[in-house]
Amino acid sequence: MKLILFFLLLISSSLQIDESKALIIYFSRAGENYSVGTVDKGNTEIIVDYLTKVTKIKSFKINPETEYPTSYSETLEIATKEKNSNSRPNIKNPLTSISDYDVILLGYPIWHTNLPNIVKNQLELLNFEGKTIYPFNTHEGSGTGNSINDIKNSAPKADVKNGFPLKGQYARTNASREDINEWLNNVLQLDIDVPSDATDETDATDATDATDETDENIEVISNNNNNSNNNKSYIKGFSVLLLLSCIFIF
Ligand SMILES: Cc1cc2nc3c(=O)[nH]c(=O)nc-3n(C[C@H](O)[C@H](O)[C@H](O)COP(=O)(O)O)c2cc1C
Repeated sequence: MKLILFFLLLISSSLQIDESKALIIYFSRAGENYSVGTVDKGNTEIIVDYLTKVTKIKSFKINPETEYPTSYSETLEIATKEKNSNSRPNIKNPLTSISDYDVILLGYPIWHTNLPNIVKNQLELLNFEGKTIYPFNTHEGSGTGNSINDIKNSAPKADVKNGFPLKGQYARTNASREDINEWLNNVLQLDIDVPSDATDETDATDATDATDETDENIEVISNNNNNSNNNKSYIKGFSVLLLLSCIFIF
């Protein structure tokens, strides 16, 4: 009985990922793009803004040393060259360590049905031993494409989970928030319950207002989602209840 209660307690407290031990690493390109016109913020970054708004997870953006052109066709040309030569485009201030984190949420667009080479470059600079990667991506028809295999090749020591693909144009709509919430709830066990109209693109953009002093490359965006906190306190409450039962019974 004591053992069962102990395990119940253990399971209830280990259902969720620890947000302080998770980091979003992402790449996203603003400018002219397929089906969205010319945008100030990339589709993947719109998702990241939402994720950092409804969770306490920090984010790191992979910035190219040489920016990709605003023109879609010129970017396509460069990306084709990168793919054919299997090059690793330079990153401005790449992330050098993920030792503070157990879980990485990896966000990226699909390029030529693959993971953009610049993302491969960032992954290959990091030690993924004992780390779990939850990939999410935007696309315009390819789904996850071959990107999950690319991630596994670039981070062979990581435990790479299934991908979460969203159409780029859809990622920019409030309707996509429900899908994102479902991913957060069902895959990451984060208990997010935000109405789909709780935020929009403009809100998400405005949320990027605080920067972590310990690492200038990692943004900290405060969690202003009360529902999320409420749900988490239920789980904590359940754990405490179990603990008290243990003490009471024995
Ligand atoms: C160079 C390039 C290559 C692309 N290749 C594909 C592709 O093979 N399959 C696909 O579904 N979408 C492709 N797309 C569309 C992007 O995946 C999609 O627009 C994505 O949402 C862009 O994300 P971002 O705005 O965060 O950069 C490509 C876009 C670019 C710029």
